[in-house]
Amino acid sequence: MTGILHGTLHGVGVGPGDPELITLKALRILQSAPVIAWPAPLQGDSMARAIAAPHIDARNPGDEPVEIAIRMPMVAERFPAQNVYDDAARDIANHLDAGRDVAVLCEGDPFFYGSFMYLFGRLAEHYPVEVTPGISSLTASAAALAAPLAARNDVLSVLPAPLPETELKQHLQDSDAVAIIKIGAHLDKIKTVLMELNLLENARYVEHATMATQTVRRLADIESAPYFSMILVHKRQNAWREN
Ligand SMILES: C[S@@+](CC[C@H](N)C(=O)[O-])C[C@H]1O[C@@H](n2cnc3c(N)ncnc32)[C@H](O)[C@@H]1O
Repeated sequence: MTGILHGTLHGVGVGPGDPELITLKALRILQSAPVIAWPAPLQGDSMARAIAAPHIDARNPGDEPVEIAIRMPMVAERFPAQNVYDDAARDIANHLDAGRDVAVLCEGDPFFYGSFMYLFGRLAEHYPVEVTPGISSLTASAAALAAPLAARNDVLSVLPAPLPETELKQHLQDSDAVAIIKIGAHLDKIKTVLMELNLLENARYVEHATMATQTVRRLADIESAPYFSMILVHKRQNAWREN
């Protein structure tokens, strides 16, 4: 392997949902990459591909990219099937070996809990890699809620909901502001913990931030949460209004 003949592996953040919320750099890569790979559920559409669709589908006839679907279970509580990533890494490596750049799409930002890192882990030692950061769901959710995430010297923690109840409680006690991601089947546990800490009324819920289906509600009113949803809690509710 001589390195210089290889294509570059791009991890491309496509933002949280609104196709306008991608960077100019991501746009350039979407318009020019010869190969584009994207994660998708076992059945159904890929969120990352759907976000990028207006940009990829606008390419001229004859300039369409080769596309690779990486299908895996998209559930909050399960770690990804390693064999899916092994197979995808092999497919991608074949293109890189042939000198073709490969763009791997990632909803939000590739290095903020993004599945791109499983391919990065398998390929980064062997091929040139460039990561294009994206607007993450964390800042998109705060914008959707019209509520700053953290102010002044606040400590902000990101908590994956599958964590055990005791750990969630500890982190909530140790932080001023908290974002809870990957809610899925853990909604009741989260509500219980927040209630015990007397924080349920401080919890704001956002679903599908920046997408056409964006929904913002009090957590207390929510009975089920889809994959793309998040809870933001600030202990001092409107801390940014304080002098
Ligand atoms: C595996 S993480 C990926 C995060 C993504 N890479 C990012 O930068 O936002 C998936 C979790 O991010 C959160 N998430 C992603 N997009 C979202 C959106 N548009 N609205 C609300 N939450 C979102 C959800 O909590 C979801 O379970």
